[in-house]
Amino acid sequence: MNRWDIMRALVAPAATLALSGAGGGPVAARPGRSRVAYLTRFSNTRVFAKALSRELPADLFEIRAADPYPEDYFAHVERARRERDARATPDLASDVASLDPYRTIYLGFLIWVTELPAPVRTFVIQHDFEGKTLVPFVTHGKYGAGSSLSTLADLTPGARRMKPFVLECDQGRRQLSELDDWLSSVQAAL
Ligand SMILES: Cc1cc2nc3c(=O)[nH]c(=O)nc-3n(C[C@H](O)[C@H](O)[C@H](O)COP(=O)(O)O)c2cc1C
Repeated sequence: MNRWDIMRALVAPAATLALSGAGGGPVAARPGRSRVAYLTRFSNTRVFAKALSRELPADLFEIRAADPYPEDYFAHVERARRERDARATPDLASDVASLDPYRTIYLGFLIWVTELPAPVRTFVIQHDFEGKTLVPFVTHGKYGAGSSLSTLADLTPGARRMKPFVLECDQGRRQLSELDDWLSSVQAAL
C-alpha cells in the first residue's frame, strides 16, 4: 500500500460522512472541524497523524504522559503491562482545552501489550465524545489491534465510530534484536 492508498483509506470515511444526508441523498459538503490526536513512541503513528492533519486539514495534538515512559524498550513494555492490568489513567503532560469545536476526531495510537495505551485511555476519558465521529488509526508491530478497539468502543458509547485504519509497522523490538545480532558479529570479529 503506498502513501496515497493509505491516505485515501483514512480520509474517505469523513468525506463520505460529509457528503451524505440523513435520507441518503447528497448534501452540501460541510465537514466541520477535525482534530487529529495521537500517541507515538517510535514515530510510525506520527507520520500518519501529520499526513492526515495536512490532507484534511485538521488540528494536530500529540498525547504525552506527564511522567515520560522509560527509554529502555523492555522497561517501557513492563510499565505498559502494569498500567494495562490496572486500567490506569496516567496524567497527561498537556491537554487540548475541549473537543467541542470538533465534529470528527481522528485518534491515532500504537498498540501496547495488545491494548489501548494508558495515556490514550486518559485522553478519551477526559473528553466527551457524545455525538462526535471517531476515526481510529492504529499501528502495531505484528499482532494486530488486540483489544484496543473494543476498549475504545466501551469508553466512547455515544460516538459514531468509523472503520479503523490498522497497519503493521516496524517494531522497536525487532529493530533492537537486529542491532544485537549485528553487534555480536562485530564483537566476534574484534
Ligand atoms: C510498550 C509497547 C508495547 C507494544 N505491544 C505490542 C503488541 O502487543 N502487539 C504488537 O503488535 N505491537 C506492539 N508494540 C509495537 C508497536 O505497536 C509498533 O511498533 C507501533 O507501530 C509503534 O508505533 P510508533 O512508531 O508510533 O511508536 C508495542 C510497542 C511498545 C512500545
